[in-house]
Amino acid sequence: MVNSRKSSLMNKRTALITGATQGIGYYFSRIMARNRVDLVLIDKNEDLLMDLALDLYQRYGVRVKFIPFDLSKTNAPFVVYNDIIKDGFRIDYLINSAGVGDYGFFHETDWEKEREMINLNVVSLVQLTKLFVNDMVIHGKGRVLNVASTAAFQPGPSMAVYYATKAFVLSFSEAIANELKNSGITVTALCPDPQQSGLQHLAEIEVNKLLRGRKLPKDWEVAEFGFHSMIEGKTVAVNGFMNRLWLNTRRLFRKNITQPATLTKERA
Ligand SMILES: NC(=O)c1ccc[n+]([C@@H]2O[C@H](COP(=O)([O-])OP(=O)(O)OC[C@H]3O[C@@H](n4cnc5c(N)ncnc54)[C@H](OP(=O)(O)O)[C@@H]3O)[C@@H](O)[C@H]2O)c1
Repeated sequence: MVNSRKSSLMNKRTALITGATQGIGYYFSRIMARNRVDLVLIDKNEDLLMDLALDLYQRYGVRVKFIPFDLSKTNAPFVVYNDIIKDGFRIDYLINSAGVGDYGFFHETDWEKEREMINLNVVSLVQLTKLFVNDMVIHGKGRVLNVASTAAFQPGPSMAVYYATKAFVLSFSEAIANELKNSGITVTALCPDPQQSGLQHLAEIEVNKLLRGRKLPKDWEVAEFGFHSMIEGKTVAVNGFMNRLWLNTRRLFRKNITQPATLTKERA
């Protein structure tokens, strides 16, 4: 843990960010530190976490605890929760950004990868939210941001499990946002388009013809938009007027609109 004596003496706010060293999570870490919020950062790679923690401490003087942990492992959220509480942190902002995807026809894809994807994108996100929202309810305030995707709004042939996990995140977040109305706690589902970098191993950008030729957002733009949406307490955060119009129309007519056959698998 890198610790600032000054910040430890003050009753500061703290953000927990998963998937903190890369992509959207990395920029969330920078944004929160820039706003003088102490940090608990979780990711798999210890070296990257240490470098980021040191950099944010040196630049912004915030207290940073980092936990190298694979959140797809059974009960991982309970282990990191106990570690965080033991060190005396109270989480004011929970940002669930870690997520993975896979591409291929469901009958051919690897179950182990899918199990890990469901564990990370769904189970771990729900467990972390439960643990920290319980504490937020006791203190009467807090903000949760769950990173879903525009994939949450329709089924995704060739990425069936990934799209389904994101639909879960959206539905779950909207439901608990409603339950927590007037509690002082807000829950935001951030639904980004595929970005220019980041989860490109998903092949979302390469395979989705709907996106070809469109200017795609960058990780840092998505994180800035997500941060402001969370602070405003928006429940569903979709960037761009046309995007919102399109996705809400899809939602309305969901039964009649299925994902067009744009996600075609290239067979060897
Ligand atoms: N990028 C997009 O186009 C896009 C679009 C819509 C939504 N999203 C969503 O946005 C979120 C962030 O995506 P991104 O593109 O920023 O991802 P990214 O660049 O791939 O970063 C994800 C981070 O999460 C970490 N991570 C992966 N598995 C983990 C595990 N089991 N335990 C702990 N940490 C783990 C990764 O570490 P390693 O690198 O060591 O695996 C990485 O640092 C995801 O939930 C994704 O579904 C992304």
